[in-house]
Formats: sequence, C-alpha cells, structure tokens
Amino acid sequence: MSNTKLIGPFKQMLTMQELPLKGSLHDNQLQVISNAGLLLEGGTIKELGNFNDLKAHFENSEIEIISIDYEAVVLPSFVDAHTHICFAGSRANDFAMRNAGVSYLEIAKAGGGIWDTVTKTRKASKEELIEGIVKRAKKMILSGISTIEVKSGYGLSVSDELKMLEAIEAANKLTPSQLIPTCLAAHIKPKDFDGSHEEYLRHISNELFPQIAERKLCSRVDAFIEEEAFDANNIDVYFNRAKELGFDITVHADQFSTGGSEIAVKYGAISADHLEASTQKEIDMLASSDVISTALPGATIGLGCAFTPARKILDAGGALAIASDWNPGSAPMGDLLTQASILATFEKLTTAEVLAGITYRAAAALKLVDRGVLQKNKRADFVVYKTDNYNEILYHQGQLKPSNVWINGQMVYNN
Ligand code: NIG
Ligand code: FE
Repeated sequence: MSNTKLIGPFKQMLTMQELPLKGSLHDNQLQVISNAGLLLEGGTIKELGNFNDLKAHFENSEIEIISIDYEAVVLPSFVDAHTHICFAGSRANDFAMRNAGVSYLEIAKAGGGIWDTVTKTRKASKEELIEGIVKRAKKMILSGISTIEVKSGYGLSVSDELKMLEAIEAANKLTPSQLIPTCLAAHIKPKDFDGSHEEYLRHISNELFPQIAERKLCSRVDAFIEEEAFDANNIDVYFNRAKELGFDITVHADQFSTGGSEIAVKYGAISADHLEASTQKEIDMLASSDVISTALPGATIGLGCAFTPARKILDAGGALAIASDWNPGSAPMGDLLTQASILATFEKLTTAEVLAGITYRAAAALKLVDRGVLQKNKRADFVVYKTDNYNEILYHQGQLKPSNVWINGQMVYNN
C-alpha cells in the first residue's frame, strides 16, 4: 500500500487557512474549496485543492486513491483545549443538589465538590484512571476531536498528582487522539494538608514540579483562582517556580469572581479559561494581551450560570477558543460540538468564530502550530461529515456526527 494517499472528492473543504488569531470573523472569510481533494504523505498534508486537478497531476505516481462516494464536507478535526477527563467516580448527587438550590461554592465549602472527586481519584488505581481516560477520549473521537488537553488536579499530593500524570501519559499511547497533559496541582488546597495555602503551593513547587519537568510528564501548569481555591496573595510562589522551570502557564480565571485574568496576564499565560464573571475591564485587558480567552460553555450548562462573554471578547479583539471543560462536577456532559453550538446561539457567534474556536484558535491555546488548519505540511488531522453544507455541522447542535475521522494520516473512525 502506498504511503501517499489522495482522498476525495469533497463537496466542500473548509481549510481554516489565512484567518487571524484574534478578533471577530465573518463567515465570508472562510476559505471553501469545492470538489476538493487532500493529498497525504504519511501523517502530513502534502497538497490540497481541486480533486480532479490533483488526480491528473499525480496520475503517474504511486498513490492510493480513497474515493468519497457521497456528498461530504471536510475540515480540520477538533481540539478540546481544556478538560479534566482523568477522574474517578460520579458527582450526580452534586448535580441534583445544585438543581435543588445549593450552589457550587456552597457544596465545596461543605467539603463536597472537587474534594469528593479527589477522594475517589486517590482511591482509584492508575489502571482504572487510564481506562476512564481512554473510554472518554474514544467517545470524543466519535465527535471529531483529535487533540485533548487533560488536567491533573484531583490528586493534590505529590504522589497522587504523579499518578494522574502517569495515567494520562499511559492513556496517550492507547488512543489515536493526542493527549496534552497539564498539571493542576493548584486546584484547591487539599483538606488533609497541614498548613496554609502558600505552604501547600511551596510544597508542590519544590517537590512536584522538578519531578514532572525532569520526567517530561507535562509542560503546562494551571491554577484555579477563586474563592475556596487560590488567589493573588498566594499563587506567586507556584507560578514563579513553574516559569523558572520552563512550564507554560494557563489559568482557571474569573469563573465566579474576577482576579484570575489579571494573574493570567501578569504571568504571560497562554490562556485564561472560564471568564464567565469577566467584565469589560477584564475583557479589554485580555484582548490587549497575548493571552487566549477560552470559553467553557459546558460549565455554564452544567452549573446554570452565565456564558463566557464570547461576543464581547471577540468584538474587543480577543482570541477566543472554546473547550468542553469535561469534568465530573461542573461540566459532566463532555460534548464539545453541542456546547459550542449552544454558545453560538446565546452569544451570537458566527460559524467561522465557532469553528475557529475549536480548531486553530484552540490549537494556539495549547501552543500547537501544526494543526487546526488544512494546509500543506500540517498534520493530516481532519473530520468528514456526510452533508453538502458546512452550516449543517453546528445547526444540528452536536447531533450530526462525523462519517469519518483521520488522525495523523490514519482513518481512526469510519461510520
Ligand atoms: O473547570 N473550576 C474549577 N475546576 C473545574 C471543575 C472541577 C470540578 O468541579 O470537579 C472547572 O469547572
Ligand atoms: Fe476546568
């Protein structure tokens, strides 16, 4: 079998090429190629353009032609830039309690919430965690998601955080999607740590960071900046040490109260995520920085709170990514396409803005420049839908599933 493949024809190819990283987008900025073909060499896109032209041009070379015999739309497969899919147990009772009127922060104060998942995740074996991640990553492939950021943060001790990061590393080898690990040891101060918030963060910075740097378990560090978590008075030691060791920074910011986005800008974070409570001041501050704003509509739907002000962020000139935040507490749904299309209806986002938010802008939120766009020399990660109109994808609010998904030049799903 040849290593070079020509795939097509696709009725529409949405390349996501030549779009800016920041600011609002009109749908007429989308590059759409009709009757398109994709030429792959191994895991890389070598050419793209009109299918018949490519076929004629490469007629005498040894290429395998993979015919698409139905009307299809192809676009870059999706990047979910913020998840917590390494966890054990369920928080269905929290969900019911919240719907009965108890707030997320009240549940946390009473010792439930994140701490409940920490208890269950600590009890789980590494193998059980691996199994959970692989199961969730496989479900995500069926929705066209090929790159998934996965946070630790339910271990909250040196050994349990290591167990989570090792589980993510092992799961990455068992799924065709690529997992990008992030250390979220500053999720909350664990209830069994005898000392202040600052002492906990110093302990993590001294005992955990050097190990994960040396073992290359992850290159990103995250913190939850919020009441009941961490704040500007104690986070310095954690982010300063993380920066010294060369980690990229990302922040859970402005979810219920402001303060996190300012910290994100101060530390030159790659992204500030959540932002449901951001006001125009925070929106403008983020827009004039290099920090990518990541909306997490799954947490809005899970908690019944405000959406991230995505429209205002884009209008202010910010870069907007959209991620699922899949976690057992605030965002149990784990369906990025459904959430992104719902965000679009409430925030009035164009198709271009939503698709950018889950492709190249989401890739940028992970500092990945090799994907999220169909272009020569980029990764051959793409998703195919059985439809003749790309607007059908968001219109069905997550119910139109891909007919096939390719990752790194391999078809990993075919329906
Ligand atoms: O992004 N807000 C903090 N962390 C997660 C929720 C984690 C949990 O509730 O288990 C989030 O929403
Ligand atoms: Fe989160």
